[in-house]
Amino acid sequence: MTRSSRLITSGIAVVLIAGTATAFAIVWRPVIPAIDPPAPHAFDAALIKRGRDLAAIGNCNECHTVRGGKNFAGGLPVPTPFGTIYSSNITPDAKTGIGQWSEAAFRRAMRDGVNRKGQHLYPTFPYDHFTHVSDEDDHALYAFLMTRQPVDAPSRQNQISFPLNRRPVISGWKLLFLRRDTYQPDATRSAEWNRGAYLVTGLAHCGACHTPRNALGAERVNARFAGGDVDNWLAYALNDRSHAPVPWDADALYMYLRSGWHPDHGTARGPMAQVVSNLSSVPDGDVRAIAVYMADISGAPTPDRKREGEATLAQARSPSQASQTDTAGATIYAGACASCHETNRPLPYGGVSLALSTAVSSPDPRNLANVVLAGVSAVEGERSPIMPGFADSINDAQMSALLNYVRARFSKQPPWSGVEKTVQDARRAQAAFLLTSPAPRNAPADPQQREKP
Ligand code: HEC
Ligand code: HEC
Ligand code: HEC
Repeated sequence: MTRSSRLITSGIAVVLIAGTATAFAIVWRPVIPAIDPPAPHAFDAALIKRGRDLAAIGNCNECHTVRGGKNFAGGLPVPTPFGTIYSSNITPDAKTGIGQWSEAAFRRAMRDGVNRKGQHLYPTFPYDHFTHVSDEDDHALYAFLMTRQPVDAPSRQNQISFPLNRRPVISGWKLLFLRRDTYQPDATRSAEWNRGAYLVTGLAHCGACHTPRNALGAERVNARFAGGDVDNWLAYALNDRSHAPVPWDADALYMYLRSGWHPDHGTARGPMAQVVSNLSSVPDGDVRAIAVYMADISGAPTPDRKREGEATLAQARSPSQASQTDTAGATIYAGACASCHETNRPLPYGGVSLALSTAVSSPDPRNLANVVLAGVSAVEGERSPIMPGFADSINDAQMSALLNYVRARFSKQPPWSGVEKTVQDARRAQAAFLLTSPAPRNAPADPQQREKP
């Protein structure tokens, strides 16, 4: 061997060794030793209560409780473009849950998406947001989970194809997309704004639904809150691309997030109904902080947008004449919808003027199809909005005619295309959702979460 080829060979060896070591460092995580499940009285009541509120903000029940199943016992299929991932049992059961997890193991899962045994977890578990949660809040969440009822519920096999079914692959995703920084307060902003920013970017993971994702399933950082997809719903844009006919402000956001309804915006449905249901039980100050921060994300409306919003509101508040046209859509609307949506009827049956609905002015008709098919169901023990579902009484062709008519009459946006297909997809999704969805808004998944400890 010549001197130079020896040099090259050893150079390659060094690169290979360094590469292997780097790959190993990226992929490998140690096992964290098992502990005996801590006794419930090891945690004080105030800490558990704080953990309960944080778990509600983080929507842990939404993904970790199957409808009609035991609280936090996991097993919910979470569909992703890459296959179905089942949520884990996060009750303190020693065998099938996280009973043997130390707090350090729990914190590592929240922050790095790694389980106690050192395996990488899929980012369907939104640790790309939870990574920003403070040590103190992780401590309270741990106390809350470790004092739940242990449930014996083995994990279910994910349905993902090769190579994504290999957990080491996830470490590559993390290298590209996981930013582990803790929240740095912005000194130029109020304490309330900072609290809101901390919750929204971290535990509340609002962007997990409201931000569009790239081909590898990561949120697009340069399109924050520009609107995303979840379970056949559009999670509307909440930034300056919002299609809400009346621009959102902090007070409206607060009322909507707290109660699930606002007179100028209507009601929260689908996955958002669950978010709101959880927020209804957390400290008022936290919901207000979220609203203040989100109002800043949506930004002050331009003078044009403000004027249009005011005009729409004025129009919506004076009940209009029924439309003079007699197309199929107009006839169905007049017969099935107008009596509740155009009469200033009070709640529970009075729906907002459809001119105020983001579902009608939205870039696609999914959410409108979903709400007309399923209606809006009552929340137990509250004077909440009620609308019947029309899945059984209006067929696909009639539904398409109705949606096209509603779009043309109540929004200033161009017509939608492919409405009939959307209606068919919505019917299919609804059938699937009824089988697999987490508890609906009117049935809090965890009664213990709601009671005051
Ligand atoms: C959007 C759905 C979703 C939400 C919201 C969610 N999780 Fe999960 N979580 C999952 C899924 C799916 C997994 C399984 C990931 C895997 O197998 O790789 C998981 C896994 C976990 C694990 C690892 C358990 C194990 O045995 O490996 C922990 C701990 C956990 N979640 C805690 C939480 C907590 C605490 C919250 C609320 C603050 C929460 N999750 C909210 C979907 C979710
Ligand atoms: C699990 C997914 C999901 C999460 C998490 C989520 N949202 Fe939503 N959100 C949705 C969907 C879907 C809709 C549309 C619901 C509808 O059509 O009624 C929506 C609607 C909204 C609207 C109404 C917008 C409009 O113009 O009508 C607001 C405001 C909102 N979300 C704010 C938030 C905030 C703030 C958070 C975090 C605290 C959040 N969302 C978390 C899915 C989600
Ligand atoms: C019995 C009264 C009633 C009837 C009939 C009814 N609705 Fe509703 N609708 C409501 C109520 C109440 C709500 C929830 C409050 C709200 O969002 O305005 C609602 C909500 C909606 C929303 C969501 C508005 C938003 O963005 O929050 C749409 C869209 C809608 N209805 C369309 C229709 C259409 C189309 C028909 C006819 C096929 C119809 N409704 C029939 C009462 C009714």
